[in-house]
Amino acid sequence: MEAPCTTLPASDEAIARAAERLHDGGLVAFPTETVYGLGADARNDDAVARIFAAKDRPSFNPLIVHVADLDAAGTYGAVNDLARMLAERFWPGPLSIVLPRLPDSGLSLLVSAGLDTVALRAPAHPLAQDLLTRFGGPIAAPSANRAGEVSPTAATHVLESLGNAPDLIIDGGHCTVGLESTVIDLCDERPAILRHGAVTREQLEEQLGAVDDASIPESGAAPRSPGQIARHYAPAIPIRINVTDPRPDEAFVAFGVPGTNNAAVELNLSPSGEVIEAAARLFATLRELDRPEFTGIAVAPVPDIGIGRAINDRLRRAAAAHAD
Ligand code: TXA
Ligand code: MG
Repeated sequence: MEAPCTTLPASDEAIARAAERLHDGGLVAFPTETVYGLGADARNDDAVARIFAAKDRPSFNPLIVHVADLDAAGTYGAVNDLARMLAERFWPGPLSIVLPRLPDSGLSLLVSAGLDTVALRAPAHPLAQDLLTRFGGPIAAPSANRAGEVSPTAATHVLESLGNAPDLIIDGGHCTVGLESTVIDLCDERPAILRHGAVTREQLEEQLGAVDDASIPESGAAPRSPGQIARHYAPAIPIRINVTDPRPDEAFVAFGVPGTNNAAVELNLSPSGEVIEAAARLFATLRELDRPEFTGIAVAPVPDIGIGRAINDRLRRAAAAHAD
């Protein structure tokens, strides 16, 4: 029988135990400002393999390696001028940077899923930073959910999704950003966004000039990021997006001033119509409404600006998961 997973409230003692578990090849779920991560020592093949098993994640989908800062990132990836500029502006924070992987990085090959690149991120959450400092090494961490489910923004979501798979969960309350990090690829001449997130395209373009949007692969083309496969981020019941008139048997996710409608139940992402607040609530709201008593979840239109673009990206993928 698997040993039961322990959830510990945030404390120095919890961080120390988590660092020990990582040293021993264990799996530790921890909060970041975006979503909870399922962490393992990124240099340990067995530990990284356990992440793929726990999530039931396809082995072609690489993991983000978390580091304390730019210096540490330079141990694993070939940091170029653009990467330095972005890290100085946005790290620690919700930005993952894909760089050529150094041949002597010492990282498990599994982390990169066979690619010769690595995604690096210095998270801003104080508990994630404490854990990185205490552990003193790179932490591979995808979102702490089973593949295909929405990412966890609270410790209880991790337990619901992964059960006893993590050896330890550090409970740091709700994640403030609520959506996964922006992923930018700096390996080619032209920077390309692989996934939209809290660091917006506008912010990236201020630093870099024009940036390609490679977040939606052209039809027929191989995705630049293996995580772009559409079947992702999906609740179990169907989702309809850009809905203004929900059906009586649907749960409705409103944005801004509530309309009059006949939905079975209504939750509002942001009564004041703010996209940042809506992002922080999105995944918890979808989880709460993902119940068989509803025929589906209908979501009101969300403006496609700033982090709203990341919200719409996740919603489109959730809707697409049920379209085939
Ligand atoms: O906010 C986040 O990024 C969270 C927290 C825990 O840091 N992590 C997260 O990891 O969302 P995950 O594994 O759920 O998503 C990582 C994404 C995937 O879409 C993956 O395909 C992409 O990053 N990725 C990772 N390494 C890559 C690489 N070398 N090249 C291209 N894409 C990569
Ligand atoms: Mg994920």
